[in-house]
Amino acid sequence: MAEIVRVADERGEAFYRQHARTALKTAWAFTVVWHEQIVDVLAIEGERTVGTARLRIAASLGHVERIVVDPEFRRRGTGRAMLLELDDIANYYNCHKMTIGVLAGGEAERFFEACGYHREALLPQHDFKLDVAMLRKFLL
Ligand SMILES: CC(C)(COP(=O)(O)OP(=O)(O)OC[C@H]1O[C@@H](n2cnc3c(N)ncnc32)[C@H](O)[C@@H]1OP(=O)(O)O)[C@@H](O)C(=O)NCCC(=O)NCCS
Repeated sequence: MAEIVRVADERGEAFYRQHARTALKTAWAFTVVWHEQIVDVLAIEGERTVGTARLRIAASLGHVERIVVDPEFRRRGTGRAMLLELDDIANYYNCHKMTIGVLAGGEAERFFEACGYHREALLPQHDFKLDVAMLRKFLL
């Protein structure tokens, strides 16, 4: 019986990457190119950083991990512009779809809907027991 240990280094990730490739080949009838990366963008006005967003790409999905705009600079199109930049990056890597999870029914959901996202699923009592809406936007 294996001993189970907790680790805080890269060994788990390295093992997963090595063995996940075989699993992926079995799950799909074609060779999957597993491309995974994280890209951050900043919104800059003059000398000032007024927003940031993070895109995580994996399995031909682009996932918006976070997006925030300085409260003083909101409702000026900055958030939308950052999302469009993330779309461009995801398109470059042949992603077919963007996703994001937000608290259901809140301002963030309205923002993403205004930017072309649609609710795909509702995850009840998900983040700290609050409902989370999974939103998506198809790119292709
Ligand atoms: C959500 C957020 C990133 C939007 O940034 P922003 O730069 O203000 O957004 P934009 O100006 O590009 O808004 C584009 C459209 O989205 C909609 N929208 C934006 N903020 C909204 C809000 N608070 N309520 C309802 N709709 C909103 C509007 O339709 C808006 O167009 P309009 O201003 O012409 O009406 C910003 O409010 C924020 O940082 N919120 C806190 C962090 C957060 O909730 N992040 C999302 C989850 S990770």
